[in-house]
Amino acid sequence: MRNETIASQLNHRTIRAFTDQPVADETMATLFAVMNRTATSTGMQAYSVIRVQDPVKRQALAAICRQTYIASVPQLAVFLVDVYRNRRIAASLGCHHPAARDMDRFFQGFTDAALAAQNLVVAAESLGLGTLFFGSLLNDPDQVIQLLDLPELTFPVVGVGLSYPAQNPQLKPRLPLNLKIFTDRYDTSEPDPNLIEAYDREMQAYYDLRDNGRRSDTFSRQVVTRLTQSLDKRARILQSVKRQGFDLGLGS
Ligand SMILES: Cc1cc2nc3c(=O)[nH]c(=O)nc-3n(C[C@H](O)[C@H](O)[C@H](O)COP(=O)(O)O)c2cc1C
Repeated sequence: MRNETIASQLNHRTIRAFTDQPVADETMATLFAVMNRTATSTGMQAYSVIRVQDPVKRQALAAICRQTYIASVPQLAVFLVDVYRNRRIAASLGCHHPAARDMDRFFQGFTDAALAAQNLVVAAESLGLGTLFFGSLLNDPDQVIQLLDLPELTFPVVGVGLSYPAQNPQLKPRLPLNLKIFTDRYDTSEPDPNLIEAYDREMQAYYDLRDNGRRSDTFSRQVVTRLTQSLDKRARILQSVKRQGFDLGLGS
């Protein structure tokens, strides 16, 4: 079964090069209106977005992400956990309860921010725009916090870049769904090795624009590379979360 929304979603590719065609303010307004309608945990809307327009800040962000092209993506936004706003609203009613700092609030905000970002991306792609997520800002959350003047009880989640695409990449293959969907319980039995091998071959044939246009490694080898990588600041992300005033809930 297909409609235009589904056709657009099934055609998702990350875009990393953009034309000079500006994105109209009206288009951005529509995308943010869609974002604002996203489902939100307990209705609290515990996320915010910072549009990054200052060229100096864009450069700094690109340096944190170690992806130079991010500085020149026409529309750039950082999605945040934002419990600061609601805490201020509660404080205006005289409420200063410490539960505002619970990790539960953090995770609600994290999910809200991720869903809002994805909803905006789906809308953007349906209008023919190309989009890019960048989680690489979490290479150094403290620097992002400083760069964007993030107050306590906020935290960066993911960046989104978008504009009109100047490339038409292949669809990146995905694992077959029977490796991802279970019924009633998690099935830990060994998956059919043929399925992984077939996916490895598919990935190897995929031409990855992220990797300077080289053919990809097998998925299995990519997994090994990723799971053996440990970036110090990313491994210690909870310390940054704590510095932003959240209570990790681990006792003192
Ligand atoms: C949360 C999140 C963070 C991501 N961070 C980055 C990033 O920092 N840099 C990047 O080039 N792509 C990033 N991506 C894009 C993924 O690499 C991409 O979605 C994935 O390889 C699948 O490719 P496709 O989107 O073209 O299908 C991110 C995607 C998500 C969902």
